[in-house]
This record gives sequence, structure tokens and C-alpha cells, in this order.
Amino acid sequence: MIYNIAIDGPAGAGKSTIARRVAKELSFIYVDTGAMYRAMALYLLHKNVDRTNTEQIGEVCQNAEISIEYQNGEQIVLLNGENVNAYLRTEEVGNMASVSSAVPRVRKKLLSLQRKLAKDMSVVMDGRDIGTTILPDADVKIYLTASSLTRAKRRYLELQEKGTVCDLDNIQKDIEERDQRDMNREISPLRQAEDAVLVDSSDLTIEQVVDRILEIFRART
Ligand code: C5P
Repeated sequence: MIYNIAIDGPAGAGKSTIARRVAKELSFIYVDTGAMYRAMALYLLHKNVDRTNTEQIGEVCQNAEISIEYQNGEQIVLLNGENVNAYLRTEEVGNMASVSSAVPRVRKKLLSLQRKLAKDMSVVMDGRDIGTTILPDADVKIYLTASSLTRAKRRYLELQEKGTVCDLDNIQKDIEERDQRDMNREISPLRQAEDAVLVDSSDLTIEQVVDRILEIFRART
């Protein structure tokens, strides 16, 4: 049997940590769709596109081939054949991804790759429109959220651990701006699917959220 679990939610809600753990527990593949949008953004940054020029972004993205490989269970994103994982997790790339992912031609390029992965294997896929658009028939849909302050604090600690100097207010502002863009874009806006279970992780530990999702999955299958 092939099973699909969709986890959507805003930036910093803990989707990737949770999705990775759920996938490990169930021996499913974890698919990080944000990394695909980030790889596309990296390409657009390299090409110096004008971030306000939707048409140009739509044109230039046609030359970026994104594919996925798995090495020791880790997702590797290939951009025109090159492993770009090491360059994806910066604020610059994240912000560009949030801008360019609103462009229909960018989304179209990644939709078929994401659907194909879920058709071929049991996956836990996280993103913004997995439950609403990519996998409307997913076995379990989770909408994972947390307050913007909680999310900013988590991001702040993560950056501090890496030794990056940062400011909590700025991070929170960035997160709120990104939420606004993701929720208000015309194509595939971030929203909870009607049949998704809402999980607010503000006051829950990672283990508690993982257990809740596993419980939901087991009750349905
Ligand atoms: O989740 P992550 O922060 O890596 O995603 C980066 C950006 O890519 C998000 O802010 C969002 O705009 C976009 N994205 C999207 N659809 C997805 C995954 C990510 O639009 N399925």
C-alpha cells in the first residue's frame, strides 16, 4: 500500500522537523517541498532577476531543472544536476522563495514532480498547498501552526546556535510578512484544507506533535 500524509502550515511551525520524524517512524520518505521552491529561488537570485517582475521570473524559471535524490534517507535537491542543499536555508533564499512561489509558472514546474513522488512512494510531504492542491486525496492532512512569536523565537534560537547575529523583532516581522504573502497570493494560497486536522504546536513538544499525527494516521488506516 502507498500512503500519503500532507503537512501544511506557515513558516517556522516546525513542519520539517515533525514531518521528518513522522516519516522515520513509519519508514516513509520525507518530501520537503519548500526546499524545491528554495532551489528555484536560488537559481533566480543567481540570474539576478527583478523580484517585482513576475513575467521575467516566469521566463527565467523555465531554464531551471529541479529534481530530487535520496542519500541515506536525506532529500538532496538537484538544480540543473548540482546538489544545492548547502545553499538553501538562508533568509535571502527563503524570502525570494516566498516571492517567486507566487508565480504560476514556478508552481506549475514543481507540481508534477511533487505529485509523482507521492504516487510512487509512501510519503510525508510538507509545504503550503499539499493538502489543498498537490495531494487532495492524501490519507491524512495536518495543518500545523503556532503563534508568530513562538515561531520567531524558535528561528532565533536556531540562528543563535549557528552563531548568526540576529534580532527577534526583525525575525518576527519577516515571518509575518512571509505569512501575509503566502496566505494572500492568488495561486495556491496557504490555507487549511477542509478535511485537515488543525494542530497548534505553540504549547506542544515535538514528541507530542509527532505522537498526535501518528495516532491520527493509525486511526485512519
Ligand atoms: O517551508 P520553507 O520555508 O522552506 O518554504 C520557503 C517558501 O516557499 C515559503 O515561504 C513559501 O512561499 C514557498 N512554498 C510554497 N509552497 C510549498 C512550499 C513552500 O509556496 N509547497
